[in-house]
Amino acid sequence: MADLLQDKDRIFTNLYGFQDWSLDAARDRGAWLGTEAILSQGRDWIIDQVKSSGLRGRGGAGFPTGLKWSFMPKEVGVRPHYLVVNADESEPGSCKDRDMLRHEPHLLIEGCLVASFAMQAHACYIYVRGEYIQERQRLQAAIDEAYAAGLVGKNACGSGWDFDIYMHHGAGAYICGEETALLESLEGKKGQPRLKPPFPAGAGLYGCPTTVNNVESIAVVPTILRRGVDWWTQFGRDNNKGTKVFSISGHVNKPCNVEESLSIPMKKLIETYAGGVRGGWDNLKCVIPGGSSVPLLPKEICDTVLMDFDALRENQSGLGTAAMIVMDKSTDVVKAIARISYFYKHESCGQCTPCREGTGWMWRVMERMVRGEAETSEIDMLLDVTKQVEGHTICALGDAAAWPIQGLIRHFRHEIEERIDNYRVNKPVFVEAAE
Ligand code: NAI
Ligand code: SF4
Repeated sequence: MADLLQDKDRIFTNLYGFQDWSLDAARDRGAWLGTEAILSQGRDWIIDQVKSSGLRGRGGAGFPTGLKWSFMPKEVGVRPHYLVVNADESEPGSCKDRDMLRHEPHLLIEGCLVASFAMQAHACYIYVRGEYIQERQRLQAAIDEAYAAGLVGKNACGSGWDFDIYMHHGAGAYICGEETALLESLEGKKGQPRLKPPFPAGAGLYGCPTTVNNVESIAVVPTILRRGVDWWTQFGRDNNKGTKVFSISGHVNKPCNVEESLSIPMKKLIETYAGGVRGGWDNLKCVIPGGSSVPLLPKEICDTVLMDFDALRENQSGLGTAAMIVMDKSTDVVKAIARISYFYKHESCGQCTPCREGTGWMWRVMERMVRGEAETSEIDMLLDVTKQVEGHTICALGDAAAWPIQGLIRHFRHEIEERIDNYRVNKPVFVEAAE
């Protein structure tokens, strides 16, 4: 395992906003350096380099970015191509894209140009979460600077490529972060996911070839191309390469966003950057390692698990958005997961039955489990329902609603059983009103 990342190897050197976000300061930090030379290498070179880097999507699913770009048709002039940047960051626990929009907007804008050029897109839309009002203003100011400096617009960056970039703001619906719901919303329709396939590369925005990428996936690309694939691939393990911005929140002494090497041990990450668990590591109960959609992990696994796609998957969880929600021993974990269930019930778009009905059903049963007002046999029934929802819905929200409950039952079934037993013993007695 490599040592901690050094400052010189961080891409987001202004993640905390200690320096100026504007174009001149971003240039001093290395943004927009040699962009024209990168573009002059040609589209195939850019896509090949991104493929060789092993970069996996940073929005949660971890799909290989270069491969996704290569799905875009090679034909020119038949239909417009689009790049859409997903900045609708809404996953509970995730707040990394927000800091990139606030403090490093030029890395994103430069990445948009490079990615759009590689995929022959003359236009890019950045869809920003509705609640990110100041971030939108900051991003728009940076876009205006880039236009004024000739970095985007006609003959962007002197490349001969005309490229426009538009900022679009969402209206506060979690589901619009799902890529096809986002496209529907961008088209002015109700934000509801589409069935896939076809994937957006075949039929995306306005039915045209489109690639949807997360903010971080796009913002890291220019630096990878500038510094080289060998530099990037020295971080992390096979199939889990590069640096990653982690969000650490919950019962830690110093919640933060931090860029580190993928595959760093979870314990090291929390203790080095987040000031450790409140009350010390032994006071840890569990961690949700990748935003609310992935199953929690108990302390025994957190002691040794690595923070990457494969290690977390092997432990029946996932890296997701790399947003770690840390819970110490004071946490009522059954109640915490019931609250997450409420979130998914609330955010379900209602389009497909297993999700619309299942999320409400799971939440209501979870609420009874919190009170202990249930039969022990219902734990397995609840688990069974999560399996009926998982994989049987149009989009991943159904899975996201099922997985946290599965994680709870896998690791903390005893806490649910104790509540049920306690309720039986201390059952409230209802006295019939006198006639
Ligand atoms: P997905 O696995 O369906 O797709 C990932 C990406 O790969 C998409 O862009 C998709 O179009 C592409 N893709 C997958 N298979 C393909 C194929 N055969 N051909 C062409 N393209 C293909 O996952 P999805 O639904 O996009 O993302 C789910 C994840 O999003 C969750 O695991 C969760 O961690 C994360 N998430 C992130 C949020 C955030 O705020 N950043 C919010 C909610 C969820
Ligand atoms: Fe809508 Fe849920 Fe179906 Fe996704 S899974 S399309 S959120 S009802």
